[in-house]
Parts: sequence; structure tokens; C-alpha cells
Amino acid sequence: MKYITFDNGDKLPMLGLGTWKSAPGEVFQAVLWALEAGYRHIDCAAVYKNEKEVGDALKKAFADGLVKREEVFVTSKLWNNAHERDQVQVGFSQSLADLQLEYLDLYLIHWPIALKSHVMFPEKGEDFLDYTNAPLSETWAGMEALKSDGKVRHIGVSNFNQQKIEEILASCQIKPEMNQIELHPYLPQKKLVDFCFSHQINVTAYSPLGSADRPSARKQADDPVLMEEKVLHKIAAKHGKTVAQVLIAWSLHRDVAVIPKSVNQDRIKQNLESADLKLDGSDMEAISNLKTSHRFIDGTFFTEVPGSPYEQSDLWENA
Ligand code: A2P
Repeated sequence: MKYITFDNGDKLPMLGLGTWKSAPGEVFQAVLWALEAGYRHIDCAAVYKNEKEVGDALKKAFADGLVKREEVFVTSKLWNNAHERDQVQVGFSQSLADLQLEYLDLYLIHWPIALKSHVMFPEKGEDFLDYTNAPLSETWAGMEALKSDGKVRHIGVSNFNQQKIEEILASCQIKPEMNQIELHPYLPQKKLVDFCFSHQINVTAYSPLGSADRPSARKQADDPVLMEEKVLHKIAAKHGKTVAQVLIAWSLHRDVAVIPKSVNQDRIKQNLESADLKLDGSDMEAISNLKTSHRFIDGTFFTEVPGSPYEQSDLWENA
């Protein structure tokens, strides 16, 4: 297993379990299977609506002596409706309580999008906060306070482009230590990854397998299917591995952490074994030559809301 080492020496196992789309009723078992298989990194978020059950699984794993708290790296994310300075603590405390932990290893601003506190997903312009009420610098100051209080060991962002990161860097006391973004061979985002690395910001890949189980509202009939990509099948056959393992190994080869989601015991184990797959230069080149380009999670659920103050250009730069 490869690790990211933070400035204070803390280590993040670069392959973790994703829990977005893992239903309550499934995620408890999935987390336990993952810990039994050897995972030591669990990625969570308030908006996944399953943190209580993830917390139940962690509590059981600690009580049974399967793992110690300090051996597991747990990430969560601040939802968009808690961006106001005094709300950051509120959002964080709820995740901490649901996960039944004393501290988090990593806490991220989930999106550079601010909603009113009673809104989970926006339906109209009034559901958004005016930027002057919740500038990112204020949200980030709330994140820094959590770190200074020792409630979280590391802080970062998710779905941030270069411009949004620069906005934080311009006023921060503590630099973001992570940017979690959609990354896979159809969306390599080389420029953004290089920018993050040049500022000592680590990167985590979400939707590394192409999130085929994303909600139907996030799917178009002509979306490409990453797991059906012929080039990936060839590489998988060459190594006697699966396409999922090739995809996970591709992120690890880029020194990017990766959080494939699964609620299936065999696939959870299979995904962890990707850590042993060594892709060669020709594999990486064949993948980088793929012509298909696609963003599966495009944020239109924020930008296409009537009256939304956000545009696609607020979120994304070219891949
Ligand atoms: P399941 O949870 O039933 O295993 P992503 O991580 O990109 O969001 O992708 C998650 C999707 O990929 C889920 O549908 C998940 O299904 C599926 N998946 C996870 N691991 C594998 C694997 N090793 N082979 C095939 N599909 C997988």
C-alpha cells in the first residue's frame, strides 16, 4: 500500500473505501468487510446520509478489536448548507456525532457552492446564499478553527478548481492539504492535479470506476461507460486483472489517493488488491491516449437551477 505523508507525519493509505451511494442497510457491512480485508481509509460525507451507519460499523470494529481508532483514516465533508462561519462547527459536529468519533482525520469543504442552512439541494435562486454572506475565505476560517481546536487533523477541499484554490491560498493561515476531485481516464485533469501538487496539496480521485451507480438524474443516454472501455480491457487481460483494478492502479500510479465505492465483499477485496498491480509505461501511455473525455458528476444540479448564481465556469476548468 502506498501512503501520503502529511507535514506532521500522519499517513493516509492511498486506497480507501468510498461510501457515496452506499445505502444505509448496506454500508455497515461494507465498512466491516473493508476493515477485515485490510482497508484503513474510509471516505464519508454528511450528504451521503449514511454516516450514522458508518459510525456504527467503526464502533463495532473498535469494540471487537478489529482495528484501533488511530489505525483508521476517516474523512468527512462539510455540506454546502453550512458554509457560513458559525455553521461550519455545526456541520462538523453533526458528522462527528454520527460517525461516533472523537476526532476526524480529514475534513473537506464538499463543493465551492453555498446554500441557505435549511436547503440540502437547491431548487430556485433563493436557495443559494449570496456570496457576501459566505465567501470561501469565511468557510475556510471555520475549517482552520476546527483544526486549531484539534477536532480534525487535516483540512482540505473537494470539487475545487485552480481559481477557487487560489482564492483560499490568498487569505488562509493553514493551506488546504487535499483536493478531492473526479478523476479517471476519461477525466484525467492533469493541469489541476499538477497545480495541486505544485502547491503541496494532495489529491484524491472520486468516481474512479466511472460511478455507474450514480443517480439516474446524473445519467444521460449517451454517456460513455468507463468500465466498458476496450483499451482498459486489453490492459486488464495483459496483467490477468480486472478493469476496476486497472482503474484503481492508474490513480495510484499518478500518486493520487483513490476511493472506489463497493458494497460487495468480493469487489471490496478485489479493489484493495489493485495496490499490487504495477502498470507499465505502455499501459499508462495507452490510457493517456484515450480520446473519450467525460465528466460524470458535472454539477449541473447546482448550476442549472433557475436563478442559480453559479455557472459551470465557476466549477470547472478544462480537463
Ligand atoms: P458495487 O457497490 O455493487 O460493488 P465509483 O467508485 O466510481 O463511484 O463506482 C462505484 C460503482 O462501481 C458501483 O456500482 C459499484 O458496485 C461498482 N464496483 C465497485 N467495485 C467494482 C469492481 N471491482 N468491479 C465492478 N464493479 C465495481
